[in-house]
Amino acid sequence: MFVVPFLRYKFDCDLLKVKDLCFYEKEKSQGRIISNVGGWQSNVNPLDLSLFSEFEKIVSDFSLHVGMPGNIKIRSHWININDYKSFNRRHRHNDAVWSAVLYVQVPNNSGDIRFYNPAHDQLHYEWSRVNQLTHFNSPCWTIAPEPGDLFIFPAWLDHEVEPNMNQNEERISIAFNFD
Ligand SMILES: [Fe+2]
Repeated sequence: MFVVPFLRYKFDCDLLKVKDLCFYEKEKSQGRIISNVGGWQSNVNPLDLSLFSEFEKIVSDFSLHVGMPGNIKIRSHWININDYKSFNRRHRHNDAVWSAVLYVQVPNNSGDIRFYNPAHDQLHYEWSRVNQLTHFNSPCWTIAPEPGDLFIFPAWLDHEVEPNMNQNEERISIAFNFD
């Protein structure tokens, strides 16, 4: 009946080059604190969007597929570099139709992303007795990202990122808002 649109797209690009650009930005700026606890989050729009020129078509096609308007544009983006124990609290992205996250570097045990079912409270409290967790009855859904993954989801969908428990390497992602 009701389905949350979500797309996992494999983005083929030079992730090492993107990683270098992310660290270059981190050297230049103190960043900001929004949903991140620890780690570093850039200010908005630090990177040259030509790196991600395909994204607007990918998201536009997906948007049309689910009955929403096409001609989608990137409105903003920012970099997340989560070092040991840093994480992102549950949040949603205001002022956008679609959001996405591109995974640049994902070391082992560096934290999965968790999406919250919009019916989370009902499922969690009123439907707490389940035989088997499925797409129909899960209050939330946790995904282990891989480098090059691009996750596209509605901007209104709550999500959080688990702590990076890898002591040696940072988890690097780039978040996008589209409309
Ligand atoms: Fe987010």
